[in-house]
Amino acid sequence: MQNVLSLSLALTARVSAMAVPASSFAGAPTSDLYPPASTSVNSQLFPPESVVGFAGPTPTGIEPAAINTAPVYPFNNEDSSSFPLVAPHAHGSGVDSAFNMKRSWGNLSPWYSVPSADYGLPDANPLIPDGCSITQLHLLYRHGARYPTSDAAPAQFAAKIAKATKKGFETKGDLSFLSTWTYKLGAELLTPFGRSQEFLLGLEHRQLYGGLLNNFTEQGAIPVFRTESQDRMVKTAVNFAAGFFGVPEYMDEVSIEILVEAPHVNSSGSPYYVCPNAGVKDKGFIGTAVSKAYAALAFNATQARLNSQISGMKFDAKDVISMLELCSYETVALGYSAFCGLFSEEDFLNYEYYYDLRFYYENGPGSPVAAAQGKGYLQEFVARFTQEYPTPSSALNETFDNSSTYFPLNQSIYADATHEVVVLDTLTAFNLSALFKGPPLSLTQNERRNSFSTSKVIPFATHFTAQVLECPTYQPTKQIRFIVNDAVLPINESYAGCEANPHGLCSFDNVVEVLKKRIDEIDFDHDCYGNYTTKAGVDYNGRAPRD
Ligand SMILES: *[C@@H]1O[C@H](CO)[C@@H](O)[C@H](O)[C@H]1NC(C)=O
Ligand SMILES: *[C@@H]1O[C@H](CO)[C@@H](O)[C@H](O)[C@H]1NC(C)=O
Ligand SMILES: *[C@@H]1O[C@H](CO)[C@@H](O)[C@H](O)[C@H]1NC(C)=O
Ligand SMILES: *[C@@H]1O[C@H](CO)[C@@H](O)[C@H](O)[C@H]1NC(C)=O
Ligand SMILES: *[C@@H]1O[C@H](CO)[C@@H](O)[C@H](O)[C@H]1NC(C)=O
Ligand SMILES: *[C@@H]1O[C@H](CO)[C@@H](O)[C@H](O)[C@H]1NC(C)=O
Ligand SMILES: *[C@@H]1O[C@H](CO)[C@@H](O)[C@H](O)[C@H]1NC(C)=O
Ligand SMILES: *[C@@H]1O[C@H](CO)[C@@H](O)[C@H](O)[C@H]1NC(C)=O
Ligand SMILES: *[C@@H]1O[C@H](CO)[C@@H](O)[C@H](O)[C@H]1NC(C)=O
Repeated sequence: MQNVLSLSLALTARVSAMAVPASSFAGAPTSDLYPPASTSVNSQLFPPESVVGFAGPTPTGIEPAAINTAPVYPFNNEDSSSFPLVAPHAHGSGVDSAFNMKRSWGNLSPWYSVPSADYGLPDANPLIPDGCSITQLHLLYRHGARYPTSDAAPAQFAAKIAKATKKGFETKGDLSFLSTWTYKLGAELLTPFGRSQEFLLGLEHRQLYGGLLNNFTEQGAIPVFRTESQDRMVKTAVNFAAGFFGVPEYMDEVSIEILVEAPHVNSSGSPYYVCPNAGVKDKGFIGTAVSKAYAALAFNATQARLNSQISGMKFDAKDVISMLELCSYETVALGYSAFCGLFSEEDFLNYEYYYDLRFYYENGPGSPVAAAQGKGYLQEFVARFTQEYPTPSSALNETFDNSSTYFPLNQSIYADATHEVVVLDTLTAFNLSALFKGPPLSLTQNERRNSFSTSKVIPFATHFTAQVLECPTYQPTKQIRFIVNDAVLPINESYAGCEANPHGLCSFDNVVEVLKKRIDEIDFDHDCYGNYTTKAGVDYNGRAPRD
């Protein structure tokens, strides 16, 4: 009783000391409200997209018209992770099949909550464990759903169809729609659904973590959130901020820092531009080839089935992948795709594995350059954990990593946007082995003996979260844990000194020590510039061999 009384007295005292806006109701705790008084965004220091430039290509697509083209209306049902997209049943599936094809689209899946049980923590939950409180949120998230990148397979497939149309071809059965189909996608940009993913991600984080803004209010500061200069990256950060702070408030309540993404420019957000080996066959560029080789065999039967429904042209193995990609891309851009109904549940599981191979060997433990490319963010996380500026030993940009204006170390909330490859590189640099538990991925068989799954780890709007906690019942009381798309990760098997914990917790200081060792063991110059040979089929722990 006494506590309640003194709290309400304290509250009254604080409120009466402030200039309470006329609209506030009596007793509202205005002193805790964000934003702090007389703060604003300095657009000289944090210029907008139009000033920064380097937006990349921005071809727009045809307007979606799902009200006309979708066979099913997008009622707002329980699959909220992909509202308002609709997908048909997979080829050969009964109407009551629970199979959700959108969760087998690799990096083109919309993000969804992954159970902690999938990585070995059945009782864990992202809610703060009893007896602990949160002091810091560190968030690294990917852009939302986008059109295909400029060089992707669907546009090439569209060109092949356009050419065949001139000569004339005939289709039947499932493929009938193809005779009147036209290509409607743009390139590179966020789709309307992609915008909603980021807006909701921002909104979700405000609802979950808004209390941490009190820290900014107390210090009279607004946060710096970072992204890269590509148009979809800027729009991602802006939509996230709009969800988090509201429209138009976000324009005054957060500084959005836009890092240049361009060849040869240092940035933790686009490390591939300063890591030459990432593009070299037999070095960093090994996943793409093995995933293509896998796909050339995995879809044989499907290829034959589809070829039996068309005359006047023939599909090759690459066309099958193009049509699977069109299923994903048209759905996230236009709301629905007739291509999806061409493929069986097994096809979609193999499609997911095609992506698993590519990413495990290009940006995961099977890559010799993954850890090097993730080292920039790893160093930045550790800098924020320790409040010490990083000593560059990666692609960090000193201009942006050595100043309290551009790289503040005292925030309670951090939010950086990047690409899926960089998120995966970063998780590899963090040595979060629970995400890759098991033998290296088989190059020929979709055996699922490894815990890695692309759609769980790097879907559209994926997010990697570090929660820093104060837990009075633990010793030491400062704890940390890591979460990917709501799955809490165990770290006891790859972080020396961390014991098994049902909530994925470990001593903050111990984790920082482990990560500093990891920074030391990742040799950016060797991995990105050295002369070595690698092949797919090996778990390199994301680092180049020394031969
Ligand atoms: C962080 O430090 C900077 C520079 O010392 C200061 O201007 C700012 O108010 C601080 N921000 C927060 C959120 O504490
Ligand atoms: C650092 O970033 C700035 C702007 O993003 C860029 O102009 C500069 O070239 C970068 N520095 C290096 C060494 O890449
Ligand atoms: C797929 O095609 C390849 C090469 O044409 C052939 O070797 C293989 O046996 C086929 N696999 C199946 C399952 O049909
Ligand atoms: C950061 O900048 C200061 C002043 O320019 C310089 O003395 C220091 O060495 C730099 N630190 C790093 C880690 O580059
Ligand atoms: C840019 O990154 C390279 C490593 O790729 C590093 O040697 C260099 O110091 C960095 N330059 C700046 C200005 O950050
Ligand atoms: C605000 O958060 C920063 C970073 O966690 C911390 O250093 C600082 O002590 C906090 N300030 C208050 C008043 O809680
Ligand atoms: C990374 O994890 C592996 C186990 O997956 C472990 O053997 C290794 O020691 C870890 N590296 C560091 C620097 O902690
Ligand atoms: C690590 O923690 C997990 C989950 O709590 C547990 O299943 C596993 O046995 C632990 N491993 C070791 C080596 O302690
Ligand atoms: C890299 O190593 C290979 C095999 O040892 C050798 O043939 C090649 O000349 C080397 N390349 C360079 C640029 O040193």
